[in-house]
Parts: sequence; structure tokens; C-alpha cells
Amino acid sequence: MQVSNKIKSPYVSCNKYLINGELSQWEGPMAEVASNIYLTEKLGSFEPTIIGKVPDMDEKVALNALESAVNAFSRGKGLWPTMKVKERIACMEKFVHIMATKRKIIVELLMWEIGKNKADAAKEFDRTVEYIFDTIEAYKKLDRKSAKFDTEGNIRAHVRRGPLGVVLCLGPYNYPLNETFSLLIPALIMGNTTVFKPAKLGVLLITPLLEAFQEAFPKGVVNVLFGRGRKIAAPIMKTGKVDVLALIGHSTSAVALQDLHPYKNRLRLILGLEAKNPGIILPDADMDLTIKECISGTLSYNGQRCTALKILFVHESIVDDFIAKFSKAVDTLNFGLPWEDGSFLTPLPEIQKPNYIKGLIKDAESKGAKVMNQKGGEMLPNYCFPAIMYPVNEQMDLYHEEQFGPVIPIVSFKDIDEPLNAMANSDYGQQVSLFGEDVKQLGPLIDTLANLVCRVNLNSSCQRGPDVYPFTGRKNSAVGTLSVFDALRSFSIRTFVASKDNKYNNAILQELLNSDHSNFINTEYLL
Ligand code: G3H
Repeated sequence: MQVSNKIKSPYVSCNKYLINGELSQWEGPMAEVASNIYLTEKLGSFEPTIIGKVPDMDEKVALNALESAVNAFSRGKGLWPTMKVKERIACMEKFVHIMATKRKIIVELLMWEIGKNKADAAKEFDRTVEYIFDTIEAYKKLDRKSAKFDTEGNIRAHVRRGPLGVVLCLGPYNYPLNETFSLLIPALIMGNTTVFKPAKLGVLLITPLLEAFQEAFPKGVVNVLFGRGRKIAAPIMKTGKVDVLALIGHSTSAVALQDLHPYKNRLRLILGLEAKNPGIILPDADMDLTIKECISGTLSYNGQRCTALKILFVHESIVDDFIAKFSKAVDTLNFGLPWEDGSFLTPLPEIQKPNYIKGLIKDAESKGAKVMNQKGGEMLPNYCFPAIMYPVNEQMDLYHEEQFGPVIPIVSFKDIDEPLNAMANSDYGQQVSLFGEDVKQLGPLIDTLANLVCRVNLNSSCQRGPDVYPFTGRKNSAVGTLSVFDALRSFSIRTFVASKDNKYNNAILQELLNSDHSNFINTEYLL
């Protein structure tokens, strides 16, 4: 199915990068970008398809990008951090309108670079555009609340939210557009300046936006680098000039980067990290609904979502019935190329992932679990068909590891304390899905679960969206909260002007308000 000479792959060669408002030509080494979708077979082995190349940058240019962001912030004096809110919003609107014209190529690259199916790739793009518009609205709302003075005691105050400084933005490969932008956009609109490096996969799809960044924002506000994190993010962190590390990815990368920063107390962290969200299926759960939600929860985008259901705890009284029906449903899922109609399962973008998944299956088998569905574990060069593994126990890697791929461990339980203890002992604390209907049992359970994770999904799979809801986690799963509104808070700090409430000061404040001398002291109501 994956070898076809009829399909034309895209090819994008980008030798440009954006620093200090200039799209410069990269003269150094380039890195090829390979898609794990195969179009050719050479000597009996499948070959990834080369779909483009990007600069493989080094420390020197990384530090130039940082310097550009530092200069654009200019100790808080820069054009961008002091600009009127409505002017920053105008820049953002300009950007999103140009971005909207790049939908076709970006959706195509999402399919080729990370194997996301067409519907989900389109959704990722559209959701990101919507996120930008929603962020603009949320910022106007926030700003309206600041368009006033407060008086407490004899102190008059004008309280606003101000930027933090220079933000290093690093996104993940599974949502290379949406999640990267869910950091970058609020960081920018709040007046910070940024250095941004696309994820390890899903790099080419950023290149059609370079000119949009250049046209929409003042120089130095957005700086875009390409290359390996180790080579370019590490030296940037070592300088101590980064005020905010905004990263969605793995905690090991976040901790390694944080450790390089010489002044840890000055570094604000906004992190979306790994998770092992469990599904807990109670004896009275509606079976059909539960199967449907568990399919989308475990296998949307092949399970490569931080919010995916990564372990299912099923009550022992229904576990056989659940496994029989769930296995049947999994085996009917369509595997195909991302752009083919009805492809639900698609090639895995990481070359080593099928073997890693196979390794988890073998480890579980060697410790007593079995593959429960007929097609489970069938291998293709770039895929491993989803395997339902049962009975899984604590000795198996699959019980603990965030598999981030198509394999589903099932654990049966007798006493509800078993899954609750497992969650309490786990390193993660993002979300849970709870299936059942008896309110006498659900009520107290919800009360406990809400203290173990940050979102309890009742008879529904776990997910991040809608983006207006808070997205966060406990333990190793997150630092800070992201949502359209929360992200504006995360990337800013409350800062205000205070004065003794007397004639002398009030006259000065009034004059400031009547003049154009300060963008901060401003009570303009943004419609
Ligand atoms: O990888 C984690 C994403 O935040 C998941 O987002 O639940 O919308 O797929 P999603």
C-alpha cells in the first residue's frame, strides 16, 4: 500500500532563516528532511521519501538569534514590549491573515512530515487559526479590565499585565503547528520577544510562514532557527538571557535545558510534558459508548498524543466482554496513507517507533501478557498495527512507559483502590477518563480523581480541547497552565503604576491620560 510511483511527494528546500527582521540566506550545511511514507523500494528494502531540506544551524547563529530577541526587548524599552495593545493586536491580525493563505501547503506538509491523516491535519491548521483569533479576543477582554484605576487606602493604582522578556519556544512533533503556536502566539501578543525552533519533525511546514512573521512583526520580535536542539537551544540557555522556557515535549529535555540556565530563579517555565492518562471502566459503564471513546482516546493519531489514553483499567466483571468487543473494533480500523479517505491509522513518523512498540509487546509477552486482537502487532516497515495487551501488570514496561504509539495495555481490577493507587504512584498527572453511571460511586471517585489529575473526563476520552479550557497537569506532566486565557497570564506578569492619591499626582496622571506620552497609562476601551 505504501509503495507507489503515482503519488507525487512535495519537495520544499528552505535555505532562509529569520533573525532581526531579515530573511537571511544560510550558507552552511543543510539537513535533509525525510518522510516515513515510502514511495520507493530499493533492493527489497523500503526507503523514506526525501521531501526537502532545511538549514542545520550552529551555536553562532543561535546566539545571533538570541541577541536579536534581547535587543528587540531592549530591557523593556523596545518598540514591541512598549507598544499599545491595539497595535500589537494589529500585527497579530496581519500575521493570521497571511497565515490563512498558506493552509493548503501546510496541511500537505503535516501529512507528509508527521503522517497525520487529512482530516486531523486540516483540523490542526484550522484550530490554530481559531486559537489566534480567540487569543486576540481574550487579550482585548483582559485589556478592558485594565482600562481603569483602582484606589485602596490612599493609593491609586493602574494595574496591567506586562511581558516577561525573551521567550525560547520549543514545540513537539505531534502538533508541530498547533502546540508550538499555542506557546508562541500568547508569548508574542503579551509583548515578549521570541526565539523559536520548530520541532524535530514537522519542520518544513513552518517555512511557508517565515515571510508572514517578517511582514507582520517588528524586527527581532520573532526569530526562527532550524537545527538540532542540542546544538542550538543549549547554547542559548547557557547565556542566562532567556526569561521564559516554553516547551511542549518531554521532561528530560525540559530539565536538561533548565539545568543549563545559570540563574534558575529568574527562569519562568511553561511546560506541557508527558502523560500516561488512564481510562477507568466501571462495571456499569455503557459498553458501546466506552468502546467508541476508548478507540479515539487510545488511537487517534496512532496514540501519539500527550492526552492519549495510555492504559485501561477495566473492572474484572466486564473485562472479557470489553476486550472481545474492543479487539473487534480495533481490528476494523483502517490503515492507509494520510490523504486517503477513511485512513484512521497512518504511518508513524519516527523511523524507530515500530520496533520500539514491538519491543514493548515482546517485553509484556515475556512477562505473561498476550496480544488479544487478531491484527495486533502486525508489522510494516513504518507501522506496527495496534496491539491490545492483556493482562498487563507492574512488572511490564508497558505499565509505566509513555508508549506514545499504537499499543494498548489493559489491567483488570477488583477494587477501585487498585487504579487509584496506580495513579497516585505514577509519575504523571494530566487527565483520566472515567466510565460508569452510578452517581453513588462516581461522586466520591470524581472528588479523589480531581486531586490526582487536572481533568476528569466523564464517559469521554481525554483531550486538550476546546482550547478555552485549562490544559495543565500534576507531577511530571506540566508546569503552568495553558488555555486561550491562561496562556496570556502565563506569559506575563502583573505590573502597575501606583501613586498617593493627592491633587499633585492626580493632575499628572490626568495629563498622562490626556496625552500620548505613555502606552501603559491608558484607559482606552478596546472594542
Ligand atoms: O499531545 C498532546 C496534545 O496537547 C493533545 O491535544 O487532545 O487536542 O489531541 P488533543
